[in-house]
Amino acid sequence: MTSPDTVFAARRALLRYLSVLPALAAAPSVAWSAAAAVPAAPTAERMLDLMEFEALARAALPPAHFGYLATGVDDDRTVAINHEAYSRIEIRSRRFVDVSHLDTSVQLLGTTWASPVYLSAVSAQRAFHPEGELATARAARSRAALLMVSSGTSTSVEAVAEARAAPVWMQLYATDDWEVTSALVKRAERAGCPVIALTVDSVPGRNNETLQRAMRADTRECTNCHVNNSHDMWRRGPMFSGIDVSKVTGHTPSNLSWEYLDRMRQLVSVKLLVKGVVTGEDADRCIAHGADGVIVSNHGGREEETLRSTIECLPEVVAAVGGRAPVLIDGGIRRGTDVFKALALGASAVGLGRPPIWGLAAFGQGGVEAVLDIVKRELNTIMRHAGTPTLASITRERVVNRL
Ligand SMILES: Cc1cc2nc3c(=O)[nH]c(=O)nc-3n(C[C@H](O)[C@H](O)[C@H](O)COP(=O)(O)O)c2cc1C
Repeated sequence: MTSPDTVFAARRALLRYLSVLPALAAAPSVAWSAAAAVPAAPTAERMLDLMEFEALARAALPPAHFGYLATGVDDDRTVAINHEAYSRIEIRSRRFVDVSHLDTSVQLLGTTWASPVYLSAVSAQRAFHPEGELATARAARSRAALLMVSSGTSTSVEAVAEARAAPVWMQLYATDDWEVTSALVKRAERAGCPVIALTVDSVPGRNNETLQRAMRADTRECTNCHVNNSHDMWRRGPMFSGIDVSKVTGHTPSNLSWEYLDRMRQLVSVKLLVKGVVTGEDADRCIAHGADGVIVSNHGGREEETLRSTIECLPEVVAAVGGRAPVLIDGGIRRGTDVFKALALGASAVGLGRPPIWGLAAFGQGGVEAVLDIVKRELNTIMRHAGTPTLASITRERVVNRL
């Protein structure tokens, strides 16, 4: 039987831990059981799941920086629903299948990747760790993971590609100055990016109250590092060095049209993805206008409070694309089972936004690696249990979709 001393010692250790993490105790998004499970001396290797990294990132970061990472818009419900929706999809496991060897490799736009899980574009990563995108790139290198660099990166794409030691994908905001946008595209192509992902879900204006509240709680003087209190990486970051940005007023114009996509298609000589598609109609037109694929994304719930999760949008997009091109998805993916469900509903690859950055904030490169390791372990586990030794065997019949 456990002695009272042992129980109290354990409680004291827990309270000591919580006393250095005041925000953690108040964090509504972190279940008590998860918080209690975090070891007293956390290391990246000892983390059990992705959500534990969120608590540590919150503790490690200044309020405004954590707020920037966490924020959605309005009530942050779309952020939550992106993940919650996965609990309404169930897995149909099959027995008597040889799962002694698993193959998670995937062919994507001409390259074979060891895993369908990739690191999605997250801007300004030096706000989360001094080594920022370089640490993420080194983690991607050590885990052979696909990395998409934001055009709002705080480290140049050339340096990130060097740290990754392989080509990286470039995410692109269509600025309202074509000269600037063209210069970015050409720079990314010169840096060896084989894929450019044009983000289209970020039209001007967003009500990111969580960020605003976090900024109120931050006593530091933001203008010491930021022009106009904004990170401004989409205009003043290293990707824009040598480019005249004086006419750029926003990172996405509000008059984007299908003609714009045609023009972009003409400009981009590598593969072109459209990131931020949530309907079958748009997906169909993107492919008709020459896109090489689409990414079902709502920017991690950071732009508009639609209350519609990306996994709910996925089937109509997959149906509309009809196998003509790959369909990728991001938003709310926190478990290997989430990856499995997205693959079953037709995704070719699955992106992580916040979780690797929680790992980065808490532990640097090792944290990003640990996040990738956990997702890999969880995906492998469910593949074994479900009787699906390859990605090709994770078909629509493997899930019951109650969305
Ligand atoms: C702090 C932060 C910065 C982001 N920056 C970009 C960006 O520069 N360009 C972009 O297309 N998406 C950006 N995203 C969206 C991600 O690429 C991705 O779509 C989203 O985070 C996925 O949802 P998840 O965070 O729930 O995994 C950002 C997301 C976060 C959290």
